[in-house]
Amino acid sequence: MEHLLSIKDLSQTELLDLLALAKKIKANPADYNQALAGKSVVMLFEKPSLRTRVSFDIGINKLGGHSVYLDQQNGALGKREPVSDFATNISCWADAIVARTFSHTTIAGLAKHASVPVINALCNLYHPCQGLADFLTLSEKFDDISNVKLAYLGDGNNVTHSLMYGAAILGATMTVVCPPGHFPDGQVVCEAQALAAKHGGKLILTSDINEMGPQDAVYTDTWISMGDNTSMEEIEAKFKPYQVNTALMTQVGANYFMHCLPAYREVEATAEIVDGEGSLILQQAENRMHAQNAVLVTLLG
Ligand code: CP
Ligand code: NVA
Repeated sequence: MEHLLSIKDLSQTELLDLLALAKKIKANPADYNQALAGKSVVMLFEKPSLRTRVSFDIGINKLGGHSVYLDQQNGALGKREPVSDFATNISCWADAIVARTFSHTTIAGLAKHASVPVINALCNLYHPCQGLADFLTLSEKFDDISNVKLAYLGDGNNVTHSLMYGAAILGATMTVVCPPGHFPDGQVVCEAQALAAKHGGKLILTSDINEMGPQDAVYTDTWISMGDNTSMEEIEAKFKPYQVNTALMTQVGANYFMHCLPAYREVEATAEIVDGEGSLILQQAENRMHAQNAVLVTLLG
């Protein structure tokens, strides 16, 4: 593993090893409190963040490393100087780069020119750190993740893409249910389907909620992602049938609800479900740090 740009780049062994290491770090943090001693990580964020920014910062601190936050929200990377110069200059001082960018091209440019590992902290196409935390969360609930049935409802977006790759590599069954016109990226679907075939997983895509069979967990995300200027009025009617609510959870018999957050209650999911008994949202949020620390230890340790 040289960088973490997308879950699709991980072999099944690499993915399982990351999840196992995350569990070890979570269980015995003291064993890893010097894992990043003397190392510095630069974090570049072109978009807002609560969970990713704080969990990386505190996670790096818990591993004995040092983080530097660069706020790029008022001047996208590549504006003042080329992305390549950003990458080569930061590589002179830092041991890794964590970046949240609008475009995947920017992350890929950083990785191409940096001489240190680059970790994707979300871009338009992927959110691999979220996916890792989510599969860590599921693996704490289910002994054999390849038996898990995960459904994703709503907008086919960066989070969906990372979940699709992860589920496919782990050999799980994933059903993606989106309104027409809001399916995941076609190339990502093809790649995830190929990975699912290779690893004995299953990826089902449909617009029909009634085509969903029984599920273990139901996942949703915002209907409008950062950088998407669609107005809620424009899409609300179209998306409303895909809201995760008690009727839907009962229909598919799912015990668990998942969301990467931030959540818009009474929009993509009802408050009753988001804050209900089967909601894993805080476990997912906590696991962001442990999953990311496993990535940092693997890339830098
Ligand atoms: N889930 C997630 O990435 O949250 P933030 O956007 O707050 O980092
Ligand atoms: N799909 C969302 C995820 C936020 C963590 C977005 O990109 O805005």
